Amino acid sequence: MTTLALNNVRPYGEDVAHLLIDDGVIVEVANTPFDNADEIVDGEGNVLLPGLVDMHVHLREPGREDTETIATGSDAAAKGGFTAVFTMANTNPVIDQPFLADAVWEKGQAYGKCDVYPVGSITQGLAGKQLTEIGLMARSHVRMFSDDGRCVNDPQLMRRAIEYAKAHDVILAQHAEDHRMTEGAVAHEGERAARLGLRGWPRVAEESIVARDVIMTRDYGGRYHLCHASTEGTVELLRFAKAQGVDVTAEVTPHHLMLTDEKLATYDGVFRVNPPLRELRDAEALKQALLDGTVDVVATDHAPHGSEDKCVEFEHAKPGMLGLETSLAIVHRVFVEAGLADWRFVAKVMSERPAEILRLADQGRPIAEGEPANLTLVNPDAAWTANGKDMASKASNTPYEGTAFNARVVGTWLRGTRTYSAKKA
Ligand code: DOR
Ligand code: ZN
Repeated sequence: MTTLALNNVRPYGEDVAHLLIDDGVIVEVANTPFDNADEIVDGEGNVLLPGLVDMHVHLREPGREDTETIATGSDAAAKGGFTAVFTMANTNPVIDQPFLADAVWEKGQAYGKCDVYPVGSITQGLAGKQLTEIGLMARSHVRMFSDDGRCVNDPQLMRRAIEYAKAHDVILAQHAEDHRMTEGAVAHEGERAARLGLRGWPRVAEESIVARDVIMTRDYGGRYHLCHASTEGTVELLRFAKAQGVDVTAEVTPHHLMLTDEKLATYDGVFRVNPPLRELRDAEALKQALLDGTVDVVATDHAPHGSEDKCVEFEHAKPGMLGLETSLAIVHRVFVEAGLADWRFVAKVMSERPAEILRLADQGRPIAEGEPANLTLVNPDAAWTANGKDMASKASNTPYEGTAFNARVVGTWLRGTRTYSAKKA
């Protein structure tokens, strides 16, 4: 057994503490530094958070290993401070059978930088016609099901999915998009898209599905999670659902908090994403919703794409943006630097709540004796500039190219093993 001392850290940005970690578990939290461990790390007064958990990423394996793999995605996750991620089923082949899900989990474990949980698809091949064997997959490593990238539009199929998911006590994550209303759409329907001649994706295409699903969940039960909430109206619907006691949770992406359709003026395909970047009032509503708990978590929707699919005309660009390596810095910028929230809030929306929603016993835990050493160390004052070329991700489609940030992950530990260490400048 090896012991690790993590001295001089500030859990949740509060008072300085010193941690002793033995065999992946925090065994002591003390007021004085430890000097008798196998390895001693000086945390230099940086902020210590529970390891971050991302409910929504795309690691592209199997099928598009040219853009990301479970290994490169795990590297990006560890660099972004994550100790667990959920990778969506829209791979090739689609993760619609237990052996495919098991392969994702096992590859992640073998690589060992991050726990990579497979998301199973709701319908076979994401075709929206026949349900998958939700029960069989639930018995392997799958605890969340989603057709993300596509919406389960057929209401009868969605009803059945809710009933099966309820029976197996797994969560359904919906990508809310009425595909009939978004045919050919590439940007948020509004003045900016109209001026540029881009076909619009109206808010109602999201909100009509959210409204339907909330009512179905109210009447048929089960646990429903909304992927990437993007509109002010969606926030109102979530408020209504929660006020009624419906078991609904929701995520917001860093890009829907920080960016708006103003970026369309660049006509740069890097800003194409699904759901699209909306208007300032949507971003403001989402921010408030995260602050008051109407939206539960931040999830990145990390979506790597190669330059052949991004550095093309806006209409031809594939939707999706990198997110793993910039999300903590964005949440810090939007909430902590802005004086709206503290590090406890960051721990809640990026680690504790996602772990709770997904019932991960060993993630999002308090930084305390007897708890697993899944930890993220953050320097809140380490000015850095986002740059696609420097990312651990295999792809470089970051919408924050050249953006200066302050908070930077300097170390990540998974069960006491260091999975990321920032090089000293
Ligand atoms: O922008 C997106 N990209 N939204 C999705 O729902 C899917 C994702 C992808 O797979 O690239
Ligand atoms: Zn997605």
